Amino acid sequence: MSEDKDATHWDARYRAAQDAGSTVWSREPNRFVVAELSDLPPGTGVDLGAGEGRNALWLASQGWRMTAVDFSAAALAAGSRAAAERGLDLDWVVADATTWEPGEPVDLVLMAYLHLPSAVVADIAAKVSGWLRDGGTLLVVGHDADNLGSGAGGPRDPDHLYHGAMRFPGLTVVRNERVERAGAGGATALDRLIRATLTSR
Ligand SMILES: C[S@@+](CC[C@H](N)C(=O)[O-])C[C@H]1O[C@@H](n2cnc3c(N)ncnc32)[C@H](O)[C@@H]1O
Repeated sequence: MSEDKDATHWDARYRAAQDAGSTVWSREPNRFVVAELSDLPPGTGVDLGAGEGRNALWLASQGWRMTAVDFSAAALAAGSRAAAERGLDLDWVVADATTWEPGEPVDLVLMAYLHLPSAVVADIAAKVSGWLRDGGTLLVVGHDADNLGSGAGGPRDPDHLYHGAMRFPGLTVVRNERVERAGAGGATALDRLIRATLTSR
């Protein structure tokens, strides 16, 4: 079963929310993003699959110079409006995360709930060490494979879920664990949190 969804699908979803005066995702940053990244000194960062930018906006409010990448122009337009309201300056890039590359090294790569086929995620993971400055951080948060059987929400295709055996070539993985979060309606969602750093070239 494939759950590949293209930019047209996502654009329609974001536009429907905007027409209803709402957003698809919470306006608040993800709790794991806040917990993991609050103590990092601000630098330059990339949010891949940024959606409406809740995490990139929060990082920008903490002093990060953020580039938010998503293939949904509608999602990024919502993020851009939110940035203007808050007086924040971010770069909003409509691009396919599977082929886009930063123009210069960055201090942070964030992937939050970017669910793609495992081979595609492996391909991105293999590139990230070449994107980071020495000492830079990769943070991945997404629905865990176990969420399928016993957690709330998330993709139903097991090949689109994160798990403990994922590899991040060239990076030192400092955290790779299953974590819990209150999902829709108070049900528990099972997420995977992976944090890795580039320690030397
Ligand atoms: C579940 S949402 C998460 C949004 C955001 N990271 C957050 O946590 O609020 C997944 C996002 O990934 C984007 N996306 C999916 N596949 C993509 C691709 N190949 N290139 C760029 N963006 C993609 C979608 O448009 C969507 O905004």
